[in-house]
Amino acid sequence: MRICLIGFGVVGRSFVKLLTERAPVLANEYGFAAKLVCVADSGGAAVSQRGLIGAELLAAKESDGTVGAVADHGLTGCSVEQLIADCDADVVIDATPSDLSSPGVAMGHLRAAFRTAKNAITVNKAPLATAMPALLELAAHNRVQFRYSGTVGGGTPMLALACECARGDDVVRLRGVLNGTTNYILSRMHETDIDFDSALAEAARLGYAETDPSADIDGIDAATKVVILSNLIMSRPTTIRDVDVTGIRNVSRNRIETCKSAGRVLKLVGEIGESARVGLAEVNADSPLNVPANLNALTLTLRSSGDVTLVGRGAGGIETATAILRDLLDIWQTVGAAT
Ligand SMILES: NC(=O)c1ccc[n+]([C@@H]2O[C@H](COP(=O)([O-])OP(=O)(O)OC[C@H]3O[C@@H](n4cnc5c(N)ncnc54)[C@H](OP(=O)(O)O)[C@@H]3O)[C@@H](O)[C@H]2O)c1
Repeated sequence: MRICLIGFGVVGRSFVKLLTERAPVLANEYGFAAKLVCVADSGGAAVSQRGLIGAELLAAKESDGTVGAVADHGLTGCSVEQLIADCDADVVIDATPSDLSSPGVAMGHLRAAFRTAKNAITVNKAPLATAMPALLELAAHNRVQFRYSGTVGGGTPMLALACECARGDDVVRLRGVLNGTTNYILSRMHETDIDFDSALAEAARLGYAETDPSADIDGIDAATKVVILSNLIMSRPTTIRDVDVTGIRNVSRNRIETCKSAGRVLKLVGEIGESARVGLAEVNADSPLNVPANLNALTLTLRSSGDVTLVGRGAGGIETATAILRDLLDIWQTVGAAT
């Protein structure tokens, strides 16, 4: 399978390492062989129909800051959309930053892939948050496969579990702790007597919070995951404008103490029932949603079978790369081994 990878940061590089390491197992167990024909970052691209070598891409990125420096195959000053359209790939993977203020860039990557009959995988939540119904329609119209399992739960297969549950039963409600950073902050406030600012500073020191943590603490990241679950699992055309969102910025010690004395725990919960929302919710201490540290959890309420919960790490480079690999195998098995 010929792959075009856009974005060579934490996730993109982890994916190339994983693909290289697992190549023998993938060939033996699935008869699957992959070839990287185009890899791009913000500084340039490397292109080769015969296949790029993972170690050379990683070395060029390390030494020169861009894959555009790969000997014989490097390019600079190229249009990424044009590269996607022109390359001879079976699948395009978008691992560029999720920026809700400019989702158009990543949207352009997906559109270029669909328009030129290429399957696509994205871990970038921004285009899904703002235009998932339109993107699903565009993929279907162009008869290509579109996968995004790394956008919810990182490497924990939350979308796969939810789809599996929805196959034989009705999902009547979904509730989840869908953002690791906010869960870490609230958990620390619950376990110790620190305030919100100290817990946030601790999360930043440990690398759980971004330099600009607004998307996490204002609930936007969790809301994008609610959008994805709502479209995929509940079959409701939803964008982020349909989600009622409140973050955790104003959580006081008082609120935490009141919860604690009632034997409950404060969580940032994304929920889809009658409507879609993200906000603070008090859960019982023995609730499956009471997950510690930066873990994620998703509970599906099924009409016949009751509640099913999946818990796991919601982010991480290698974890998310695993989700991409799963999507890749899934596409390959769906479209057939011909590619
Ligand atoms: N990290 C995680 O744990 C995690 C988990 C789940 C989902 N995700 C999602 O995965 C995506 C990638 O995350 P990351 O942690 O790998 O981010 P990252 O380390 O910032 O890497 C982003 C990559 O995209 C490149 N890039 C930026 N704009 C570009 C453009 N217009 N065209 C081509 N390349 C461009 C960057 O180029 P330069 O290298 O030149 O800067 C960089 O290589 C994000 O959407 C994120 O939300 C991440």
